[in-house]
Amino acid sequence: MVSVMQLLCISLVLFCVGWEITGAAQILGLFSHPGKSHFNFFRPIFLALAKRGHNISMYSYFPLEKPIDNYTDYVFHGMPVLTDMVDLKNFESEWKPLGLPFKIPTYFMLHDWGLRSCKVALNSLLIAQLLESPTRFDVVILEHFSNDCMAAVAHLLGAPMIALSSCAIMPWHYKRIGSPFINPIMPMNFLHYTDDMSLIHRINNFFHFHAVNILYNWITQPATDELIKLRFGNGLPPINEIVKNTSLMLINQYYALTGPRPYAPNVVEVGGLQVGVEMPLPQSFMDLLDISRDGIIYISWGSMVNPNTLPPAKRNALFESISQFKQYNFVMRWKSGLSLLKEKPINLHIYDWLPQRDLLCHHQVKGFISHGGLLGTTEAVYCGVPMLVTPFYGDQFLNAGAIEQRKLGVIVNFANFDKDHITRGLQKILDKEFTENVKRTTRAFRLRPIPPLELAVWWIEYVIESGGAPLIQNESRNMHWIVYNSIDVYLIFLGVLCLVSLGLWVFVKLLSRALCRFKIEKPTKSKQQ
Ligand SMILES: *[C@@H]1O[C@H](CO)[C@@H](O)[C@H](O)[C@H]1NC(C)=O
Ligand SMILES: *[C@@H]1O[C@H](CO)[C@@H](O)[C@H](O)[C@H]1NC(C)=O
Ligand SMILES: *[C@@H]1O[C@H](CO)[C@@H](O)[C@H](O)[C@H]1NC(C)=O
Repeated sequence: MVSVMQLLCISLVLFCVGWEITGAAQILGLFSHPGKSHFNFFRPIFLALAKRGHNISMYSYFPLEKPIDNYTDYVFHGMPVLTDMVDLKNFESEWKPLGLPFKIPTYFMLHDWGLRSCKVALNSLLIAQLLESPTRFDVVILEHFSNDCMAAVAHLLGAPMIALSSCAIMPWHYKRIGSPFINPIMPMNFLHYTDDMSLIHRINNFFHFHAVNILYNWITQPATDELIKLRFGNGLPPINEIVKNTSLMLINQYYALTGPRPYAPNVVEVGGLQVGVEMPLPQSFMDLLDISRDGIIYISWGSMVNPNTLPPAKRNALFESISQFKQYNFVMRWKSGLSLLKEKPINLHIYDWLPQRDLLCHHQVKGFISHGGLLGTTEAVYCGVPMLVTPFYGDQFLNAGAIEQRKLGVIVNFANFDKDHITRGLQKILDKEFTENVKRTTRAFRLRPIPPLELAVWWIEYVIESGGAPLIQNESRNMHWIVYNSIDVYLIFLGVLCLVSLGLWVFVKLLSRALCRFKIEKPTKSKQQ
């Protein structure tokens, strides 16, 4: 048996050899969506590429704080960067027809954001200058999320296209990349289902997948085509054709957390790549960690949620629960939470910002109260911290479903966010048996033949070297859905079956008529005799 160490050595050697072959490439990053958490997943890839000597030109809302060699930032303006803007009151009551989740409005929210940020980026001076510049790019890396207009820019530049997805891939991405979608085992992004669905869940999953897909093709794509036409005139192919040229998709998923899925070979799971090397925590935390008897519980609902909008009843419930766990200290990111000084329990400590990754991996951190955002979830799994999850929007439901199924945590829905549920949830995840299971999954999550960041870099260099990786593209992206689902074949079989049955039926009919005549004729004959 080859040991893990040997495998790691081999991959390291291959990695270095790969570097020799590839040489430096001109790489363009085009990111028009102003979501910070998305970019936190993308950035490590580009830093790694720059470090290997490639020349990165990055068009985004998120410039580096300290410039580095081989990486040039071009910063979009005109869209607010999405932090502390989600109002939790929006999720207080939810319409649930027949008790089932109904998430079609999420599509409209994404469509609206996507179109607005697309418009801003497409009409920016930066893009005009980019298209005029003489630099030729070896590859364009962009995001596949809620709008595709940056793919038109990639098309005009004539370079192979790689897409990144900071979440599970959206319903409208399967077809373009030629990857299968299998309804009973692949829950749709906005639902809390797993690969273990009842009939009614499968119906809801099917409905959501296809409804959102149709809406994307009927509403988002024509609107995007319209924007592209306004900017570049009539000459470009429809955006739905352009995106079929995507050579590779790197996605923030990993089977140990999100479940095994059958992807085409040009869709690669690189979940966890943002978990970098551990850094020491600031001294102020170390003091707190030292004085906490049973440990620390970390609370964060991500960078987009504004905790000030937590309704008072739910806030009190959280505070009361926290004060019941006196042996633990709780730390929370709550911007401008200083006004809470009087109300909050003494074992809750509030900060404007927290070093999430290093905090989660500290051995004194015993639990994570979270919203199920994929970056925090991945980091918690990597560090082996059990979670109490309250999903609010988007893919948080899907992630929460995976967390519960894998026994990495418990879900407390926002509707049930009261003292009783929070306390019982915390008791459950702090239990020793629960923690042991989390550690086992952590091991499966970490144990890989090649670390995810190296895998991402390898694939990107492969696409560059092979001029778009033509050999791993499968034909299904160009097929009509009738052909792709073999409906034509079913129909022909059905037709043949019908013809054969009809033939048999006619034959039997004729035969029985002949027999009857034979029988009827006989007695008549005997009478005549
Ligand atoms: C920039 O690229 C060169 C090779 O072209 C490489 O030697 C150097 O380490 C890179 N710089 C950084 C900061 O990664
Ligand atoms: C790197 O890319 C920038 C454009 O962002 C370009 O101006 C520069 O010349 C490139 N550098 C190299 C060494 O190719
Ligand atoms: C797809 O890519 C190929 C090769 O890079 C190119 O010839 C073709 O024009 C592209 N098609 C579209 C629709 O972008």
